[in-house]
Amino acid sequence: MEERLDSLYAEFSREIGAASTGAEVATIKAEYLGKKGRLNEILKSLKDATPEERKTVGSRSNELKQKILAEIDEASVRIEREEIDRRLASERQDISLLDSLRDRGLGSAGYHPLTAIGREVEDIFISMGFDILDGPHIESDYYNFEALNIPANHPARDMQDTFWFSDMHHLLRTHTSPIQVRGMEKHRPPFKFVGPGEVFRNEAIDASHEAAFRQIEGMMVGEEVSVAHLVHFLKTLLSEIFHKELEVRLRPGYFPFVEPGFELDYKCLLCGGKGCSVCKQVGWVEALGCGMVHPRVLRYGNIDPDIYSGFAFGMGWDRLVMMRYGIDNIRHLRSGDLRFVSQFRAY
Ligand code: FA5
Repeated sequence: MEERLDSLYAEFSREIGAASTGAEVATIKAEYLGKKGRLNEILKSLKDATPEERKTVGSRSNELKQKILAEIDEASVRIEREEIDRRLASERQDISLLDSLRDRGLGSAGYHPLTAIGREVEDIFISMGFDILDGPHIESDYYNFEALNIPANHPARDMQDTFWFSDMHHLLRTHTSPIQVRGMEKHRPPFKFVGPGEVFRNEAIDASHEAAFRQIEGMMVGEEVSVAHLVHFLKTLLSEIFHKELEVRLRPGYFPFVEPGFELDYKCLLCGGKGCSVCKQVGWVEALGCGMVHPRVLRYGNIDPDIYSGFAFGMGWDRLVMMRYGIDNIRHLRSGDLRFVSQFRAY
């Protein structure tokens, strides 16, 4: 009987040593320790043995069972480790090797067009001596409206459909103009800065309108700042971005925080001015609002309007990107569609 136990263990050791998957281990466990397993078979035959033999074989088979269980656990751990090693070896990628990424169809990363143009625009302004400022997405009524000469109940509040928070004092900024107010708090004239960022409006989306889009605010204040400075900086910016003189037109525009106010349009580069869904068939695209900073806004910034004057502008960044790359629908920009963004991948 004891010899049967010895040979059972020898066979078990050979099998478990050769097992290479979890399923094989489970089969071996059932074969040796299952109800109808080989160990139980030996125990069943004990009924014909002497009481002495029953005792020694009984306790030896118990020890053997514990030994087998321990070896099964060890084998499971070994197999799991081997599986991990196998996967690490086969899935290994050296991400510093561009070619290996390209072979797997991954290519290298590139900037999203909004980021790429944003950086270009920032560089152009930095080269012209502007600072870059930032501001929060969640603004107070004061910075988004009041300090921009749009008091409560002013009809101009309805010009931009606002996402208000439930306290009705905070909102998602509807434009980057609050950066003007924050900039005036930090700078004493003369100064010039730009403030890029995301803005939010609760409005219907179409080929050229998004509910979350980007603008770049610009402001310059000094003793003799005029509309001529404003036009000069905007023309320089646009020709640097498009590497050519763009056809632009300036029309009167109403914004409570500037006087006089203008809107600047550029000839639609997507249709060459013939008319398309982006320019709404008029041939011109509204690029930005601008004007001379209203004296009341300067006073909110503790700047004396009898000594200083300034210009400000707020430019639609998405539309600039669309014109530059010939993108015919603003929705592509935030679609997350890889077929769209991979066109801008840098190899
Ligand atoms: C403003 O937001 C003013 N704060 C601009 C300004 C700043 C005027 C400083 C004077 C002085 P407006 O709502 O027109 O203005 O928006 C400015 C530009 O943002 C537009 O010319 C357009 O290019 C872009 N824009 C406006 N709404 C959207 C939209 N829903 N989706 C994409 N771009 C938009």
